[in-house]
Amino acid sequence: MRTIIEPFRIKSVEPIRMTTVAEREALLAAAGYNLFRIPADQIVIDLLTDSGTGAMSAQQWAAMMLGDESYAGSPSFRRFESAVRDIFGFCHVVPTHQGRAAERILAATVLRPGDVVPNNTHFDTTRANIEAVGATALDLPCPESRDLAAPLPFKGNIDLVELERLLASPAARVPLAFITVTNNGGGGQPVSMANLRAASELCHRHGVPFYIDACRFAENTYFIRKQEPGWADRPLIEIARAMFALADGCTMSAKKDGMANIGGFLCSNDDAVARQEEELLILTEGFPTYGGLAGRDLDAIAVGLYEALDLSYQEYRHASVQYLGEHIVAAGVPIVQPPGGHAIYIDAAGFLDHLPRSQYPGQALALELYRAAGIRSVEIGSVMFGRHDVRTGLETFAERELVRLAIPRRVYTQSHIDYVVESIAELASRRHDIPGVRIVEQPAALRHFSAVFAPLPLVANPAPVGAARP
Ligand code: F0G
Repeated sequence: MRTIIEPFRIKSVEPIRMTTVAEREALLAAAGYNLFRIPADQIVIDLLTDSGTGAMSAQQWAAMMLGDESYAGSPSFRRFESAVRDIFGFCHVVPTHQGRAAERILAATVLRPGDVVPNNTHFDTTRANIEAVGATALDLPCPESRDLAAPLPFKGNIDLVELERLLASPAARVPLAFITVTNNGGGGQPVSMANLRAASELCHRHGVPFYIDACRFAENTYFIRKQEPGWADRPLIEIARAMFALADGCTMSAKKDGMANIGGFLCSNDDAVARQEEELLILTEGFPTYGGLAGRDLDAIAVGLYEALDLSYQEYRHASVQYLGEHIVAAGVPIVQPPGGHAIYIDAAGFLDHLPRSQYPGQALALELYRAAGIRSVEIGSVMFGRHDVRTGLETFAERELVRLAIPRRVYTQSHIDYVVESIAELASRRHDIPGVRIVEQPAALRHFSAVFAPLPLVANPAPVGAARP
């Protein structure tokens, strides 16, 4: 059969409230043109994130009823720990309420001010937790990733030449190296087993523990099976075990490939490090057999981790993301190629090439997609990563102006994706009529969550890039 279908039936439905353009225009004005401020029940298709937004299976809901809420020694923890050990293979499993809590505990335990932590691309919370202890988070994406349009198979790889240079430098103190699978900050692109192996060998040769940010590990296994010689026909769980056998530990957000709505964990093989992590866990998250989660959440994750490694599920997931990518490319929309594991990233600077970066093409596109079709996406460009100097009024812009369409797991069907394709194609047909935006108010940090924007009139001579905003 050529058609890859959703490998599930729907037992429980959540109605979508259909809104009109006029209603959405009013909602946008009331929200200060910031999509984070739009009430979620006023959104037709929500592609803001794939994190914690997935649908759980009947097996997971059933497992939740077995959840044991004992403060200490809960059997839910034993089931969770045994699933994590079985797939990831590490000795110590520390449960946390989500991924960033695992990052914070790890950073506080092993990092000191002045340390350097490399990664293919740090996710923003990983970077922030490293920087919070005075260390430096260094991105070393492979050179191929810089060409957004190149359809190469493993653009999530780390740059091994740069990694080796860093590890060999006597000046750099590197207590830990990371690879993020898949590389969310780099377009949801996968990392090959060969790259993981080479990075692991380099780290171990220099005595540096090698960690994996495992959020989308199961999507990464599918890419390896499909694209890397030697792995075709291998069960995904075997590929996962081979990936993690190369590492000394991992951080995980179970809100992604844990197929759960909340949760995470931190693993390691180092007894002394794990003991310190558990002490910190008790201080801020909870006792080591629940770590800030309910027993039922631990049970949902224990089941979800295996479901993420189900081949027919991954075939459907990849087909769905790829379908969205291919069809909007056919409508003339430039995207980061090839389609990632969990999301499509539109190159907004290329798509809205009449707008200078000072008019935030990513934000302009995300707003128009919501106004016209009720679809929520997220700008990953100068609104998120640009900086505003309050003293000089000057803006520093991000390297790329992207809009991410992240696909929640098992939530939307083919016709929902068709609606997204049709809506984006409609925007493509009148892309030069989409106006830019300006920032009216912004906080000092993490401005994308709360800044207030205003649409600009379409102007023939917009302010040059880098110029101070009036
Ligand atoms: N690492 C990566 C690669 C992530 O994508 C995320 C979250 C985290 C760590 C942190 O996990 O949210 O459970 O604390 N990414 C979400 C996203 C928020 O939308 O990409 P968390």
